[in-house]
Amino acid sequence: MLKEGLRIVSTGHYAPPKVVTNDDLSKIVDTNDEWISSRTGIRRRHFVEEQTNLSMALAAVSEALERADIDKSEIGACIVATVKPDNLTPSMACMIQAKLGLPEGIPCMDINAACSGFTYAMVTARGLLMQSGKKYGVIVGSETLSRMLDMTDRSTCVLFGDGAGAAVIELNDTNKFCYVLGSRGNDEVLVCPNGNTMERFVHMVGSEVFKFAVSTVSKAVNELLEKASVSADDIDYFICHQANLRIIESVAKKVKQPLDKFYVNLDEYGNTSSASIPLVMNEMNEKGMLKAGMKIICVGFGGGLTWGGAYLEW
Ligand code: UT7
Repeated sequence: MLKEGLRIVSTGHYAPPKVVTNDDLSKIVDTNDEWISSRTGIRRRHFVEEQTNLSMALAAVSEALERADIDKSEIGACIVATVKPDNLTPSMACMIQAKLGLPEGIPCMDINAACSGFTYAMVTARGLLMQSGKKYGVIVGSETLSRMLDMTDRSTCVLFGDGAGAAVIELNDTNKFCYVLGSRGNDEVLVCPNGNTMERFVHMVGSEVFKFAVSTVSKAVNELLEKASVSADDIDYFICHQANLRIIESVAKKVKQPLDKFYVNLDEYGNTSSASIPLVMNEMNEKGMLKAGMKIICVGFGGGLTWGGAYLEW
């Protein structure tokens, strides 16, 4: 019988050392700490300097692999979620395979589901492992969003940051796993051209994305609760994509759960797209907050428009 359960064995992360505060941004664009922190909850973000998307992803995966202490020959897939891989080919996932000596012959690829990417990577890796006979998968969310920002556009440049988060997952038949993934094609409210037309910056109609996020995330949470046959009260922690504290507060209200079940670190990192969920997961893990058997819901949303959520048992 196919194994359908999934356990997070270990996590890892990388945040570039360069910190940019709201006050730093107020020196280059017409904004201020009061506006940014009260409208978003963001206080700082990390920006790459000499780092590449690959160097960050490698650091996050190396940390996760060290902590997993597993036989690498049992790794059956490596999936990187990112909106901007360093190269179109080879993929970041193939370079991680090469540089970290993951087994030859396993599927490695990058996927783009914008800020929902980490959950998409988790579900994709699980699907591949289910047919592979191998036990472990490597999943990563890694982004260099600072390179896609128009630093004269205050409506976007204050929101995003860089970083990477990774996890080693294990396919098993004990830790229940349920997911929801979805998309609604829309090229108006959140767009970043790839540079082919000289356009290479993020454009966003923030208020539309805000409304989409609140309704989609709470709907995804309810669908996950139903699939997992648990109630919201049974969930120990909700790990939401870190875009805006007000979105997280609205979701908490909609699903009638206390805000302290929603870990927040967007004050430190801003919105790191596909890296945001694994950065939270890793931080909670490092603090010893995640204990075996805990029930966790992760939900992301973003460009595409896409959304993706998972019910996990730690
Ligand atoms: O990962 C998924 C991607 N993105 C998101 O999830 C973002 C979702 N949306 C949001 O988080 C919020 O909509 C924003 C934080 C982007 C914007 O907050 P808002 O409360 O929706 O503000 P707004 O866009 O309606 O702008 C309000 C005012 C405007 O001025 P006027 O027209 O009222 O005079 C803006 O020009 O705030 C102004 N404004 C700023 N002022 C100072 C916009 N950005 C800034 C800024 N500093 N950085």
